[in-house]
Amino acid sequence: EISCSLVGSEMCIRDRLFVCMISSEVGAQNQLPVYLDESRPTEERVNDALSRMTLEEKIALCHAQSKFSSPGVSRLGIPELWTTDGPHGIRPEVLWDEWEQAGWTNDSCIAFPALTCLSATWNPEMSYFYGKSIGEEARYRKKNILLGPGVNIYRTPLNGRNFEYMGEDPYLASVMVVPYIKGVQENGVAACVKHYALNNQEFNRHTTNVHLSDRALYEIYLPAFKAAVKKGGTWSIMGAYNLYQGEHSCHNKRLLKDILRDEWEFDGVVVSDWGGTHDTKQAIFNGLDLEFGSWTNGLSAGTKNAYDSYYLAYPYLKLIKEGRIGIKELDEKVSNILRLIFRTSMSTLKTFGSLGSPEHGQVGRKIAEEGIVLLQNKNNVLPINLDKAEKIVVIGENAIKMMTVGGGSSSLKAKYEITPLVGLEKRIGLQAEVVYARGYVGEPIGEYNGVKTGQNLNDDRTEDELLAEALTVAKDADYVIFFGGLNKSEHQDCEDRDRKQFDLPYNQNKVITELAKVNKNLIVVNISGNAVDMPWVNDVPAIVQGWYLGSEAGSALASVLVGDVSPSGKLPFTFPAKLEHVGAHALGEYPGNKEDLAHSKNWGDTINTTYHEDIFVGYRWADKEKLTPLFPFGHGLSYTKFAYGKLSVDKRSMTVDETITFTICIKNTGTCEGQEVVQLYISDKKSSLPRPVKELKGFKKVRLAPGEEKEVTLTIDKEALSFFDDVRHEWVVEPGDFEAIIAASATDIKKKVKFALK
Ligand code: BGC
Repeated sequence: EISCSLVGSEMCIRDRLFVCMISSEVGAQNQLPVYLDESRPTEERVNDALSRMTLEEKIALCHAQSKFSSPGVSRLGIPELWTTDGPHGIRPEVLWDEWEQAGWTNDSCIAFPALTCLSATWNPEMSYFYGKSIGEEARYRKKNILLGPGVNIYRTPLNGRNFEYMGEDPYLASVMVVPYIKGVQENGVAACVKHYALNNQEFNRHTTNVHLSDRALYEIYLPAFKAAVKKGGTWSIMGAYNLYQGEHSCHNKRLLKDILRDEWEFDGVVVSDWGGTHDTKQAIFNGLDLEFGSWTNGLSAGTKNAYDSYYLAYPYLKLIKEGRIGIKELDEKVSNILRLIFRTSMSTLKTFGSLGSPEHGQVGRKIAEEGIVLLQNKNNVLPINLDKAEKIVVIGENAIKMMTVGGGSSSLKAKYEITPLVGLEKRIGLQAEVVYARGYVGEPIGEYNGVKTGQNLNDDRTEDELLAEALTVAKDADYVIFFGGLNKSEHQDCEDRDRKQFDLPYNQNKVITELAKVNKNLIVVNISGNAVDMPWVNDVPAIVQGWYLGSEAGSALASVLVGDVSPSGKLPFTFPAKLEHVGAHALGEYPGNKEDLAHSKNWGDTINTTYHEDIFVGYRWADKEKLTPLFPFGHGLSYTKFAYGKLSVDKRSMTVDETITFTICIKNTGTCEGQEVVQLYISDKKSSLPRPVKELKGFKKVRLAPGEEKEVTLTIDKEALSFFDDVRHEWVVEPGDFEAIIAASATDIKKKVKFALK
């Protein structure tokens, strides 16, 4: 502590030194002005700061000053806001006004697993540790807003950004997003939940104009955002690029004012996506607070430091100065931003954080281990038996390729990255010989915005040569592990580009098919954030969904493959048997209305798309159409077995004010420790509007030692029984019969019990 004569009080040196340095105006008053006094209610501080600001200072607060920062009010000692991507690690520093690297040497982070993997853990505790750890990394890097997490619903497996989201189910995403936000914000760093809303594809992402029923909007696409606001208390939210009902999401009245502010009472900041703002008046009146990444509004693209030309910059100031609009909206925006500043950059309660710590690495590893999904395990090929294996062959580019660079804005400069091959080699040590063959060549160079993995995986051999080598080494191996999938390069799980095909690229299907012919112990590890076609599914005994797992990818995969950890991840989305089994594709409105696509000539032409499949997304569609998925939502095997006992219920009928509790006993009947996710789906037997066959409304992950049993209780209330009525514009719960379904996946139903709502 130091004695601070300027304000005549004992000050804690930490974070408060700035008080001594700000303007003489403050000193003259000889006491803390209200806006600097953290003991005063926030709204008083907001109003006080607002009353001291000039018009120009207010305008400046509403738009960026650099690629990732917005100004504070330097005259008043109100600090800047620094944002960072998000959502899998802290983005390396770029130049002030360029996307290229600033070349700092202190900005390498821990890369955490992609959010699909986090969601696949079905473990809210993992989500909290994820948020806490990434929040600490953000804080150490002096960032105030973390641009994540993303919760857009997985509508098609072709969406290039699904890996940054939390799957197809609104309930799962809602449960998983909340602890992430809380963990981040405990550090005095705002989460910025994105991309609000309906950003369900990357193709034409700036020009797609989504139409859908209110029912689908409220039941499928909004719940995770609502949970982020109402339960997570997120301090900021990012508008999406696409349009909804003809208005860009970043200044969409319905989304931002009617729903976000009026219905959900959001008191945080609406941040535009980078370049998502298109119109000054809409931005002013429709609820955008803080504009980032715009082009230069009439100036030629690439003009330097064009921030004053942003839609919410000079054009806004001019309208006010000319008396054409008032300052009511401006004061609202500035109040929201000041509130955020008090919560983050100006808070003395925030942590100091930490970056690249071993603890964060271990959090990442644990999440990865819990999120890896064992899709298939015929003949119990897995786990690899190291007591018996002498030769283990590893094949495929994804065994050696670093995956933390690439994919768009979530690309990272990781402090380290353990590839699958290295992870396996480290774990296996001298217990067996590990032989590697390339098998196929995908994308040899890893680079994004100037960050390079340093790997050059160029290989000039032909596909036939690569295949021949793989088959030769695989023939006499005890196990063959193929690491393939996608790789975050263009069209292979990448921002701004959807996938072009459901198939695996780069000749992989052929390599896998041929490997299966020469070795019966073939394990395919699919690294992706999306479902892929698996025409060889019946020929390959073991299949693992490996996601993008970050810094500790290799160690986590190795622990699961050799059985140090029994897999417990469950799919957060359906693997359809074919693309036509996805509603969006079956009904033909992906990537947009066919006529619009045919007639669009210029970039910027709006492409309408109607979500004809409505509320029937993912397993809801498969259930309705009676389609058998390749692997269902919620599916994931273990090395042990679980027996589901009798299902009991605390009452047979409930009123709307009551809850109902289901209890089931789960026993580990296998030989190793494992975790099971008990899933509760609700089926409405009769309703005035069509309803999905069943919907996830509860789940719990339980850890059990061999022989151990535990009672799992799941409680629901009327919310789990209700649907959104478009006509009445409200959630409706109708009396009648319901069924509670306890399941190990959307198709592996264990127990059912009927109950009634009176
Ligand atoms: C992405 C956002 C990201 C922003 C800043 C945009 O292109 O859509 O998710 O946070 O860039 O990098």
